[in-house]
Amino acid sequence: MNKYCIANWKMYMDKSKIDSYFEDFLHRDFNLDCKVVLCPSSIHIDYVNKLVDNNNNINIGSQDISEFESGAYTGENSLNMIIESNCDYCIIGHSERRQLFSESDANINNKLRLLNQTNVIPIVCIGETLDENESGITRPVLENQLKRIFNNIDLNNSKDCIIAYEPIWAIGTGKSADIETIYSVHKFLKNIINEINTNNCNICLLYGGSVNEDNAAEILEINEVDGFLIGSASIIADKFYNIYNKF
Ligand code: PGA
Repeated sequence: MNKYCIANWKMYMDKSKIDSYFEDFLHRDFNLDCKVVLCPSSIHIDYVNKLVDNNNNINIGSQDISEFESGAYTGENSLNMIIESNCDYCIIGHSERRQLFSESDANINNKLRLLNQTNVIPIVCIGETLDENESGITRPVLENQLKRIFNNIDLNNSKDCIIAYEPIWAIGTGKSADIETIYSVHKFLKNIINEINTNNCNICLLYGGSVNEDNAAEILEINEVDGFLIGSASIIADKFYNIYNKF
């Protein structure tokens, strides 16, 4: 199973921040058994790709794509556009897209269907709200999300498919889920994934939600955790690299 350390830069970076990020970062060693993926804003994908040009250890991903292939969709970026910009990965269904831009599992299912026809590796985000967590319905909520997102999709088994479990109450709060929760939810999800995974596709299950330099090593001890999707701690190059070094 591949391991992943994925940075979701969200809308935090401008070009000067990206330049200073790479001052040291590009000269670091990336020889661990873990793939590094940076997800800049779409307008910066080409810029970042140029900067990392001859560094084969750093992969680029998009933070989203449109569920439509092309057409009159102002402000959207199509799958084809991110492929032209040499993205190998694409996040879909991030909770900020779901909560702030009303994306549904059906929209995410459409995006996954498009990605499934290409070599771009999907990073599918799922997670429960604080209310759902406190009402004790985390597992059915996650199961429903997965079943709707993967509905009627015959997974392409020639590439990885990444699922990131990100409890919404842990995102950007500085309060990650505790070890026992991550362990038991990931174990549960791996079972559900086996039901979906009809094609023996390699599904890697990541954790996301306030991952930092202090909690990364302990979370990685959990066998069911195949890596991280990291927000806040990924926009500081040193922090992100220190997390990478825990793999
Ligand atoms: P966080 O964000 O690491 O800041 O909690 C994670 C994410 O949004 O993917």
